[in-house]
Amino acid sequence: MNLFRKLLKRNKYIHTLNKNNLPEHIAIIMDGNGRWARKKGLSRNIGHREGSQTLRRIVEACKKIGIKYLTVYAFSTENWNRPKSEVDSLMALLLEYLQRAEKELAGDNTRIRVIGDLSRLSEEIRLQTQKVMKMTEKNTGLILNIALNYGGRAEIAQAAKEIAKEVNQGKLKPSAINEKTVADRLYTAGIPDPDLIIRTGGEERLSNFLLWQAAYSELWFTDVLWPDFSEEDLLKAIKDYQERNRRYGGI
Ligand code: FPP
Repeated sequence: MNLFRKLLKRNKYIHTLNKNNLPEHIAIIMDGNGRWARKKGLSRNIGHREGSQTLRRIVEACKKIGIKYLTVYAFSTENWNRPKSEVDSLMALLLEYLQRAEKELAGDNTRIRVIGDLSRLSEEIRLQTQKVMKMTEKNTGLILNIALNYGGRAEIAQAAKEIAKEVNQGKLKPSAINEKTVADRLYTAGIPDPDLIIRTGGEERLSNFLLWQAAYSELWFTDVLWPDFSEEDLLKAIKDYQERNRRYGGI
C-alpha cells in the first residue's frame, strides 16, 4: 500500500474515534514474533528485534491518541523454558530498550514501570530498571508498564503471601480482607484495570497475563503478527472497543 493511501486509511480511523470514550488503559500480548521471522526465513531473534521496534511505534501512537496507561507482556514466567539463546537474546533486547528509554523517553514525559518478579533477572537489568523507573517517576504523560518475568498466578500468590504475613504480624484482620486488599498488593497497585486487552498472533487466550485485573476487560484478538501490528490496527481495536457495551455484570 502506498504511503498516501496508508495515511488516508489511518486518518479515517482517527477521525471516527470518540475522544470521550477512549480506553484509559490498554494492555497488549505481543505474540507472533517467531512466526513472523520464520515466514521470512529469518531467525526468531530477528523477529523479537522487529517486535521491539513495533513496541516503539505503538508507544508513540498511544501518546498521540491520548491513552493514559499501556501495559505490555514482554517476558512471562514461562518464557524461561525457551532455549537459552532465545532467552539471552530477549534479555539483551529488554536491556537495550531500557537503555534507549533512559535517553529517549525520559525527556518526553513518559513514565516507565516494570512489573513482575525482578529477582530472577540479571543485576544489570535490575539496576537499569530501577534507574529508568526512578528517572521517570514524576513524568505525567503515558505510563508504560513493561511486564517482565511476569505471571498472573504468581502475582496473586505473592499478594496472598503478603496478606498472610500482615495478618500474622497483627497488622491486618482477616475479616477486613476484601478485593481492594488484594488489588493493593499486586504489582499493578494504583494502576486502573485494563479496559482493553489486545492479543496479536492469532491465539485467543490470556496466557497468565493480568488474570485478576482482566475481570471486566474487553478482549480483542487479531491474526496480525506483532512485528506487523500497525497504528492502524491499534485504531481499529479502539474503534471496536468503543462500539461495545460494557455492563460490568449489570443489565
Ligand atoms: C511472543 O512472540 C513474544 C514474546 C515472547 C516476547 C515479546 C517481546 C518483544 C515484543 C520484544 C522485546 C520487548 C521489549 C519490551 C523490548 P513468540 O516468540 O511467542 O512468537 P511465536 O508465537 O510466533 O513463536
